[in-house]
Amino acid sequence: MKKISLTGIKPTGDLHIGNYFGAIKPALELAKEYDARYFIADYHALNTVKDPKELNLCIRQVAAGWLASGLDPDKVIFYRQSSIPEVFELATMLMAFTAKGLMNRAHAYKAAVQENSEKGDDTDAGINMGLFTYPVLMAADIIIFDSDIVPVGKDQVQHIEMAQDMAQSVNANYKQQVLKVPQAGVQEDSAVIPGLDGRKMSKSYGNIIPLFENEKTLRKTIMRITTNSQTVEEPKNPDESQIFMLYKLFADADEQAALASRYRAGGMGWGEAKEELFRVVNRTLSPIREKYDAIMADIPSLDKILAQGAEKARPIASATVKRFRKAAGVD
Ligand code: TRP
Repeated sequence: MKKISLTGIKPTGDLHIGNYFGAIKPALELAKEYDARYFIADYHALNTVKDPKELNLCIRQVAAGWLASGLDPDKVIFYRQSSIPEVFELATMLMAFTAKGLMNRAHAYKAAVQENSEKGDDTDAGINMGLFTYPVLMAADIIIFDSDIVPVGKDQVQHIEMAQDMAQSVNANYKQQVLKVPQAGVQEDSAVIPGLDGRKMSKSYGNIIPLFENEKTLRKTIMRITTNSQTVEEPKNPDESQIFMLYKLFADADEQAALASRYRAGGMGWGEAKEELFRVVNRTLSPIREKYDAIMADIPSLDKILAQGAEKARPIASATVKRFRKAAGVD
């Protein structure tokens, strides 16, 4: 039997090529080796997003984004967290096995407390119980599907360790393997995708190249990449140019070699390099964008895909809860 992988997706709109190469593509690769499951963590988002229109749109956009990027809902399980009520039952049960002190040590909560105390505010100001108990819900997301491996960035490793703690306490208490203890699949720092200004591409830096913008906006965005003041004539070093770093993600080996030698020869201005970058980016993104637009134009079909995913997921979830209830004496 294949091992099970689980990828949690935060519903954020505005997916960009940093997300695509850093998160989406590697996560989709998992489907080759694992029995892969993907879900949209919409109740996690509720902790911060209180505008219903915004949340609703973000959920659809991120779902459409993953589907357009190649997620095949017939081969994997793809669902919304909020469609699986068993997750929340398991979260409640796990609460009984989670020390409050463990939650006090969670990075996100600690950072919020720290920020408050620096501002001189009450330390709990603006912190809801959703944020405080976030690691319990995340543990339930993972444990409910008997996940073997959870690919996460370094910032999420602590959450996985907490999930291990919870599963182990349950198993130790009932002296049997009620819950599977998950492992973190820590992603090595994959090559950082540079943004328009050369810093890591990130929505918070305002330096992103969006995945699904129309051709005209995409071109304009690429033309905004910052460059140095070298003249057209000067030879340029491809390895010091974020235009070239981005180019490598989209161009084949011959194209890369050709552009690198044009850099080194001199006589090519930054504008031309950007045009060439735009050409290859647009070549890759056009079909993905078209797929995305088609999905977003038919929300009922999108919702049907997610509902079908939830149908596949629920029996697995319910079996886990049943096992736990039985062990706990509440069956
Ligand atoms: N906390 C994760 C993040 O911030 C998202 C997430 C929620 C998740 N539940 C999960 C990831 C379960 C993996 C497994 O990115």
